[in-house]
Amino acid sequence: MSTNCRCAMAGQVTNTGGGCMARRPAGSMGTGTSPRKDLTAALGFAWALAAAAGAHAFHDGGVASCERCHIMHDAVPGQVAYDGLHPLLLAASSTDLCLTCHGDGGVMGADPLRPPRELGAGNFVFLHEDDLDDGPDPQAPRRPGQAAGHSIVSPALGLTADSRWPRAPGGTFPSSSLGCTSCHDAHGNAGFRMLHGVGPVQEGVATFVYPAPLAVGLAVADPNAAESRQAHTAYVAGMTRWCANCHGYYHEGSTAAFTHPVDEVLDSGQRRRYDRYDGDADPNGGDAATSYLPEVPFEAGSATLDGTAGPGASGRLHCLTCHRAHASSAPAAGRWDFHVHRLADDGVASGSWPLPSPYPDPGQGQLCRKCHAQNHDQGQACLACHRRGDPGVLPLDP
Ligand code: HEC
Ligand code: HEC
Ligand code: HEC
Ligand code: HEC
Ligand code: HEC
Ligand code: HEC
Ligand code: HEC
Repeated sequence: MSTNCRCAMAGQVTNTGGGCMARRPAGSMGTGTSPRKDLTAALGFAWALAAAAGAHAFHDGGVASCERCHIMHDAVPGQVAYDGLHPLLLAASSTDLCLTCHGDGGVMGADPLRPPRELGAGNFVFLHEDDLDDGPDPQAPRRPGQAAGHSIVSPALGLTADSRWPRAPGGTFPSSSLGCTSCHDAHGNAGFRMLHGVGPVQEGVATFVYPAPLAVGLAVADPNAAESRQAHTAYVAGMTRWCANCHGYYHEGSTAAFTHPVDEVLDSGQRRRYDRYDGDADPNGGDAATSYLPEVPFEAGSATLDGTAGPGASGRLHCLTCHRAHASSAPAAGRWDFHVHRLADDGVASGSWPLPSPYPDPGQGQLCRKCHAQNHDQGQACLACHRRGDPGVLPLDP
């Protein structure tokens, strides 16, 4: 729950979680290449600008009021105070600062067994889970919450770097530096969700070579917004490349135990499968006009927030077809649990929150089948066979 957030700011409303959120239309679309001003040089001007912007939504696609995030200099009006090297923030770290407002549910809930509504990225609250392993082997070691996705480092919440990956799998980004501003621009930009575009991030921890993705998201400030078949992020283009800033084309390389294409236009057979598949109980009864599944989203030039149609000719597989961007209640931020045979097994062994299945059928299996007609799993999760490596980590047979 947000305690430091001062809802008195003009234009803000208290949301259902008790935190404060400003009114703002849905996330905007763009390239994310922000015209990065030299902030230090432009201080006076920027301050005046920010004061003027105070009447609108908080980030408003640009730099918000400096004093909401920075300690301001006593002597020089509008100037951010420095500790010598770094600008002083109102919290112990950049991530803790973001969570003073975004710790109110949408991004970071309070209880991993009662997560708040889904907006698209998944929720970091699952990093607090003590076990996520619902595989068939009761003897399997527990998979604690750090496996739930991006292990953001937050001193205030006691969240530490992922001990399993010192660096981003497939890349070099150091896990000890991972926080909100690794991916989002603290000073905002007009791109999708203020994601970093090409250039240095976190004062040079890494340099992104691929631009921010094109997409449109649900309105963060709308307390009624929640992901559904009729309301979901519209992924347009470039997500895989953006993830590749830190991961390369993971799964296509040799370091991943699960190999799979990550950025590929679906062929006509795969598109037809996606359209017709309506769950294992009705694998051929679906219809192209209503086949979109937010649990298995594709990218498309024609994507819209309320689109329900299946992939057209531009429908494309991307990283977020299978993963959430923040975290989920399944290992590796899975949109569904990759390690169970039936989705109904999710949460049973571990006691973690079961990800909602899009299909009511208790026999419903892996959502890979939205694109793959293969029905040869012999009662096991797809990964039991389609993954290299230690069968002790992913047991083959119950
Ligand atoms: C939403 C919170 C937020 C707002 C609003 C904000 N900053 Fe920042 N600022 C940060 C964070 C966090 C960092 C640390 C950079 C990082 O983690 O990547 C930072 C870093 C900086 C730096 C160091 C250089 C750099 O660009 O990283 C300067 C200078 C700065 N801010 C000035 C300003 C000024 C001037 C304003 C108002 C016009 C402002 N900031 C508004 C959060 C904010
Ligand atoms: C003072 C409160 C406050 C702080 C601090 C804050 N935010 Fe926000 N944030 C908001 C509000 C309110 C919204 C919804 C309105 C808007 O988009 O401006 C929002 C929206 C967002 C969005 C969605 C934008 C979109 O395009 O839909 C992102 C991403 C985001 N914040 C990231 C961050 C990050 C990263 C930090 C830390 C550097 C941060 N915020 C700090 C209040 C805050
Ligand atoms: C700024 C760098 C950065 C970007 C951008 C990034 N990641 Fe990561 N990712 C990391 C790091 C570092 C780790 C290893 C530490 C951890 O697991 O939190 C990681 C871990 C992961 C994991 C494994 C999580 C686990 O606990 O096993 C998945 C899955 C993942 N990333 C997917 C993605 C996807 C999908 C995208 C694009 C939406 C993406 N990443 C973008 C840095 C990044
Ligand atoms: C590894 C990169 C990464 C990190 C780290 C990260 N985000 Fe995000 N965030 C994304 C992406 C990508 C999206 C868009 C996801 C989508 O719509 O599928 C997103 C979406 C959002 C949204 C829109 C609402 C939603 O749930 O979709 C907000 C707000 C936000 N992030 C804030 C934060 C804050 C605050 C932090 C730190 C606590 C953070 N993010 C850390 C990549 C990241
Ligand atoms: C077709 C679905 C699918 C797509 C697309 C996909 N992943 Fe994965 N990803 C998986 C599965 C399944 C696992 C779990 C593998 C395992 O348990 O061995 C996984 C695991 C991971 C992990 C954790 C490390 C590991 O090997 O377990 C990372 C990091 C990751 N994916 C990143 C990415 C990135 C980055 C992209 C896009 C470049 C991407 N994934 C695209 C299905 C996918
Ligand atoms: C959005 C559709 C989509 C989803 C969802 C999907 N795949 Fe795929 N899969 C593809 C495409 C596209 C190919 C490439 C096929 C080709 O080139 O003929 C592929 C190829 C494969 C292959 C052959 C790999 C190879 O190297 O030849 C396997 C095995 C596979 N997928 C398993 C899975 C599993 C397991 C999952 C779930 C974790 C999954 N797929 C989810 C679209 C998808
Ligand atoms: C019991 C082991 C097993 C399980 C479980 C399993 N598969 Fe397979 N799968 C195989 C074998 C063996 C092949 C043939 C591999 C080859 O020819 O290279 C195969 C081939 C495939 C291919 C490639 C077909 C082609 O023509 O290239 C796809 C796609 C595929 N499986 C998807 C899946 C999906 C999706 C699941 C889960 C619903 C799954 N499999 C579960 C063993 C399995």
